[in-house]
Amino acid sequence: MRVRRSTVIDAPVDAVWALLRDFNGHGDWHPAVAASLIEDGPTADRIGAVRAFRLADGSQLREQLIALSDRDRSLTYCLLDSPIPLMGYVASIRLKPVTEGDRTFWTWESQFSPPAGREEELARLVALDIYEAGFSAVRRLLTKPRPTVRAAAPPPSPPPAVRPPPAATGATLISEAIVVERHGGPEELRPRRVAVPPPGDNQVRLQQTAIGVNFIDVYCRTGFFDLLQLPGTPGMEAAGVVLDVGPGVTRLRPGDRVAYACPPVGAYADLRTMDATLLVPLPADIDDEMAAAVLLKGLSAHFLLHRVHAVQRGETVLIHAAAGGVGLLLCQWAGALGAIVIGTVSSEEKAEAARRGGCRHPIVTSQENFVPGVLDITGGRGADVIYDAVGRDTLDRSLQALAVRGHLVSFGQASGPIGAWDLDRFTAKSTTLSRPNYAHYTSSPDEVRDMAAHLFEAIRQGLLRVTIGQRFALSEAALAHQRLEARATIGSTILIPGWRS
Ligand SMILES: NC(=O)c1ccc[n+]([C@@H]2O[C@H](COP(=O)([O-])OP(=O)(O)OC[C@H]3O[C@@H](n4cnc5c(N)ncnc54)[C@H](OP(=O)(O)O)[C@@H]3O)[C@@H](O)[C@H]2O)c1
Repeated sequence: MRVRRSTVIDAPVDAVWALLRDFNGHGDWHPAVAASLIEDGPTADRIGAVRAFRLADGSQLREQLIALSDRDRSLTYCLLDSPIPLMGYVASIRLKPVTEGDRTFWTWESQFSPPAGREEELARLVALDIYEAGFSAVRRLLTKPRPTVRAAAPPPSPPPAVRPPPAATGATLISEAIVVERHGGPEELRPRRVAVPPPGDNQVRLQQTAIGVNFIDVYCRTGFFDLLQLPGTPGMEAAGVVLDVGPGVTRLRPGDRVAYACPPVGAYADLRTMDATLLVPLPADIDDEMAAAVLLKGLSAHFLLHRVHAVQRGETVLIHAAAGGVGLLLCQWAGALGAIVIGTVSSEEKAEAARRGGCRHPIVTSQENFVPGVLDITGGRGADVIYDAVGRDTLDRSLQALAVRGHLVSFGQASGPIGAWDLDRFTAKSTTLSRPNYAHYTSSPDEVRDMAAHLFEAIRQGLLRVTIGQRFALSEAALAHQRLEARATIGSTILIPGWRS
């Protein structure tokens, strides 16, 4: 099996090569590598050097350098030991300068023999979790100011990540898009080609590079929410670059990097038009994938923790689905605000992810009922505030786990609708109930930009780490929904236009 990925990095080829030629340097830039050392201490660029390294999940691997050429800016290596069955894995990296502009074309490819039945899974792991994750990390590292020289405010005009093709202006373009023709299961998300006309008054046309998957997209696909008119394209969140602008647009120009997290739906596409006022300009240190992974979920965490209930130091907060997209952000931010964070998750793996995200007390719901767990941790008092977006399966027990005068924030229904409730039940504990709607906390563009600036600053300060647990090609949106609904995802899920796996 052969896997090949390539990308363009907006940095000079010598800068990229200086980073990649260090065979022991991947621990400094690849997000999957926790630590790496060269065995027996030879220099890292010696042919035959073996790097032994540990991944963030604890697994140990060894790889050997088998060729390196400074003239061709290329290196080849093979896998010696690995818990992952990538038999006979040989990979190479090659860089070339891009003729126009001081940029780098980077190809990363490999050959290996996977066990029967695991071809697709392992090809995806190599292509997305190793190569694409590495591309993103290097792009982030080389096209943003280093943390040590970080300015408080983002630089005024970052270089565009993608240059708009000159042919874009004024013409109708054909986009790859996901279209839903009738409400139903994930299989209703079908790849289609759609026409995208030039932008109208006060609109821009975007070349999207990363698209966020949110549980609300499931509600739209099934028809539980009526935001998606059929036939239509779902999705409320993406990042990309402005291709062309319509009459009346003054604050954006072609080449600007932007993101959005709002209706109208239609994000599951390569190209789309949007009202310019709905777009948030992206600072240079927030890359496209991170923006698509965090904007909607991060704005939600922002208003849930600061406005729906202003979390106070010392409060006990229970967060359901604590290893989910919104859940991991809620855990980290609530912890940074000084709260004692309890979280529910469905598996040990998710408990570990939640713990890494600052959840002090993860409760694995497949093993225990969370109500006694919460009462035990709080000395019988219950939680001061509960963020419950699981809905049908948890809301009743959330009420039992809440403190007297506690605040129950019911902001979603991943397990099903919450149904009708008798208000008298809230008297027993003088409970406050909130049922916040994203649209009502993000209706003004100025408010969204302020909240986004606050969110990006929290990321910059290290209060929030964005976990992209899953990447799929845009054409695999159905698979992404299947995994989300099967509770098989951790952190954020994104779709990448233009990939073929
Ligand atoms: N009101 C608002 O303004 C607003 C804004 C944003 C998001 N939300 C809501 O926040 C929630 C989280 O959104 P997200 O996109 O970040 O998704 P997510 O949390 O990444 O995924 C949903 C998680 O819910 C849990 N879950 C429990 N029972 C489930 C079931 N029967 N089916 C599927 N999942 C189940 C699973 O975690 P475990 O396996 O650990 O239980 C699953 O991973 C959604 O309910 C969404 O609607 C609301």
